[in-house]
Amino acid sequence: MDKIKKDISKWIKTILELWRDGKKNIKFPEDKLTNDELNIISNYVKQISAGLTEKRELVGTKYLNNKNFLYGYLLFYWIISYMQLRFILLDVDVNKKSAIDFGCGPGPLSFALADIGVRNIFSLDNSNNALDFVSKLSSFTNQKIFTKLWDGQNDMDIPSGKFDVVTFGHIINELWKNDPDKIAKRVNLVEKIGNILNKDGIIIIIEPALHNTTKDLILLRNQLVEKGFYILTPCINKNYCNIVDKETLSCHTDFNWTPPKIVEQIANKINLKKDMLKMSFLVIKKETAEAEDIFRIISDPMLSKSGKIRFFICGKNGKFTLKSDKDFSHYEDFLSLKRGDLIQIKDCDFAENTFTLKFQSLLNIIKKNEIN
Ligand SMILES: C[S@@+](CC[C@H](N)C(=O)[O-])C[C@H]1O[C@@H](n2cnc3c(N)ncnc32)[C@H](O)[C@@H]1O
Repeated sequence: MDKIKKDISKWIKTILELWRDGKKNIKFPEDKLTNDELNIISNYVKQISAGLTEKRELVGTKYLNNKNFLYGYLLFYWIISYMQLRFILLDVDVNKKSAIDFGCGPGPLSFALADIGVRNIFSLDNSNNALDFVSKLSSFTNQKIFTKLWDGQNDMDIPSGKFDVVTFGHIINELWKNDPDKIAKRVNLVEKIGNILNKDGIIIIIEPALHNTTKDLILLRNQLVEKGFYILTPCINKNYCNIVDKETLSCHTDFNWTPPKIVEQIANKINLKKDMLKMSFLVIKKETAEAEDIFRIISDPMLSKSGKIRFFICGKNGKFTLKSDKDFSHYEDFLSLKRGDLIQIKDCDFAENTFTLKFQSLLNIIKKNEIN
């Protein structure tokens, strides 16, 4: 976590310096905005936020070609997207030879990949200004960053070769936004991109944690698993996810974080809640050998009417409930479980979609979620 904090501080300092270009004789704070700067930037962020969340009229326009919006994006959303990918990557092992970042914008995910050591990164977008900014920032990293103009809706002319990591950061929801066939078209896009993955390659899709964008992401997920893709995280379920069938239900992830000062300043100024790092995301693989008895904890502990602790867990065959008998020798381990932990369970009782850990059962915590 210290490395992430150090890396993001470096980028905030760099972006602030670029924005303040030409005012070198004035002493500015290097990690936050002055009051005057805050008034200017928060106004742009407010407009972007409204344009991307409420009526969504900025979606699908080349809003990053507007210099004010570009800096509004850089000094707020860039930092959030960067942190989102760094948090996801804490829990996912990746090969680091090559990556491709679709809809890169000014490059938060590209530079998050660079900072974990990915050596060759292709950053693609349909905004020239955003790509110019990626090139500008690339002089601040030792990794190779190549930019390319790309239109996700029309042009499938993607760089040739095979890649270890493919990212789509907050772009999928912008593609075919008003098209009745948007989900099928997005599935088709991700499926084609699946062909440029290396054998152990992964696709990471991050979307805003809004109700509709999250539902659309789960609809996309459901069709991708039907076509043979596997979800590595947040769920490890290769079945249909029925959350989309219930209007009020949704599924996003909240990471505990301490927002960088500049994010806190802007969020407070315009009343955006950023005390948790929220996102909807998927990490997808074409092939995996996840076992039947491996599950991820996908809820906080819940107390049943009978006073027993339960968790929701998600595994290769769907979503289940996990309970434990108190005399079970690993009861303390059971109580220590947290959302995001990866566990293996064996020899449990199973009834009504619920696994009950008994005395003879095995509970093996494969990986603790280090983030929450
Ligand atoms: C919300 S920004 C996300 C930027 C960055 N990936 C991130 O995670 O912060 C969405 C990006 O998608 C790009 N975009 C939208 N529609 C596109 C399209 N049809 N083809 C290529 N890029 C597109 C926009 O230019 C913008 O850079």
